[in-house]
This record gives sequence, structure tokens and C-alpha cells, in this order.
Amino acid sequence: MLVIVKDSYEQMSKEAARFIADHLRKKPNLVLGLATGSTPLGLYRELGRMHREEGLDFSKVTTFNLDEYVGLPPEHDQSYHYFMQENFFKHINLDHRYVHIPMGMTRDFDAFCAWYEQRIQEFGGIDVQVLGIGGNGHIAFNEPGSSLGSRTRIKTLTGTTRMDNARFFRNSEEVPKFAITMGVGTIMDAKELLLLATSSAKANAIKAAVEGPITAMCPASIIQLHRKAYAFLDKDAAAKLTGLYNDTWESRVF
Ligand code: GLP
Repeated sequence: MLVIVKDSYEQMSKEAARFIADHLRKKPNLVLGLATGSTPLGLYRELGRMHREEGLDFSKVTTFNLDEYVGLPPEHDQSYHYFMQENFFKHINLDHRYVHIPMGMTRDFDAFCAWYEQRIQEFGGIDVQVLGIGGNGHIAFNEPGSSLGSRTRIKTLTGTTRMDNARFFRNSEEVPKFAITMGVGTIMDAKELLLLATSSAKANAIKAAVEGPITAMCPASIIQLHRKAYAFLDKDAAAKLTGLYNDTWESRVF
């Protein structure tokens, strides 16, 4: 894994945007895996700026989001559909026929999840998957204990994840109890992984993910097995790491 530590959240976000823009210029029909949460907001803002000011072109890009709450319609202001639209999609020039977000209102979860996996295959797999990390080491909504080989499916959210996310809802009761999420195995199939983490609130999770044992109790730790995984961190998120990291993604040394 390449660990890239930047002084601030802004610098980390800009570096991550530069990484994606570089891939996009080399492959205009990039298949991009996207994440929600507060962490990638700076990345999305910077990519929006690059589109506006530098003409970065997303017209041939296909996207697949990691997850969505069950029971929230796309127009709900806490749905991940709404989040993506407001924070990223409306600021760039995607072709909406190639945008994919799990459908939290589906009636047939198994059929939907199988279709989602198949659709990823139809586009040749995900080239770059953006990831955040939960305070408990989850990726997407793969909570501790998730099978490290899992595929897209419905998952029950843990109490801590519901508490972490309660700040976005009027009260904690409103936080959905279930989500549709890509599995750990689905994520590991992406050709490159771009894990982002910021702030001291993520320092323990990052320590476990980057330097801890590979365990289902910290699903993010599986990315140690990925051939092309990059962790982009600010220095607060990296504070508990003991290894010496001065990697740059441009060196591409594995
Ligand atoms: C949610 C999302 C994850 C995200 C995590 C962390 O649980 N399903 O994909 O990584 O939140 O969010 P934040 O970046 O706001 O800390």
C-alpha cells in the first residue's frame, strides 16, 4: 500500500483530485467507484473546480457508488442519491445513463444486488474506487465482522455507525437500520483503491487498517492485500502510524 500523508485536509483532497484527474485524462471512459460521507467532499469540490476551470471532462465516465440507505427515496435529503447529486454530479458533466447508486427503495434486494454486480462487470470492472473509512474500520457499509469475500448485499448498520451518522438526521431514530452496500470482495476487485481519511477521529481506524492485522473486525485492513491501494491521509489521521511513509502516487512502485 502507498501511504501519502499531506499537511491538511485541503492538500489531501487536492492530491486525491490530481490522482483521479490523471487517470481520467489517460482513460476518458474511466469507471469510477464513488463514496459518500464528509471525507470526499473536498475531493469532489476540487474535481468540480477542475471541470469548470480546466475543462476536465466526465462525459464518458461511468460511476458506481458504494452504498445507499434502505428505505430512503432518492429525493430524501439524507439519501446518498441526493448527496451525490448536490455535492458532485450537478457540478460536472456526467452522462446520467452511466451513473449507478444502489436503489434503497427496491423491493427485491437479492435481484437488485445481483444486477449491480453484473452491471459493474458489464463495464469492465471499476478502475478506481474511492473509499472513506468509518471510525470502527468499516468501508462502505461493511461493518466489523463482514465477510472479507462479501459481494453487494443488504447489511444491518451497527449502533456506532448509526450514532456517527445521527448528526445528519433530525434524531437518531430516523437513521436507517439497513443499507445496500458493495461487499468487501466487490471493492477488492477494483483495479485501484483510493482510501481517504482525515482528522484525529480516524487515527485509530487508520492505524488498524494500515498497520494492524488483516481481520474482518476491521474490514478496511483487507486493502493491505490489494496490489494497487493508496491511502491519502492528512497528518492527524496518520498520527498513530509508526511506519515511515513518504510515498507519492506518481512513483507507482509496488
Ligand atoms: C458512512 C459511509 C462510508 C463512509 C463513512 C465515513 O458510513 N457508508 O462510505 O466512509 O460513512 O464517513 P465520514 O467521511 O463522514 O467520516
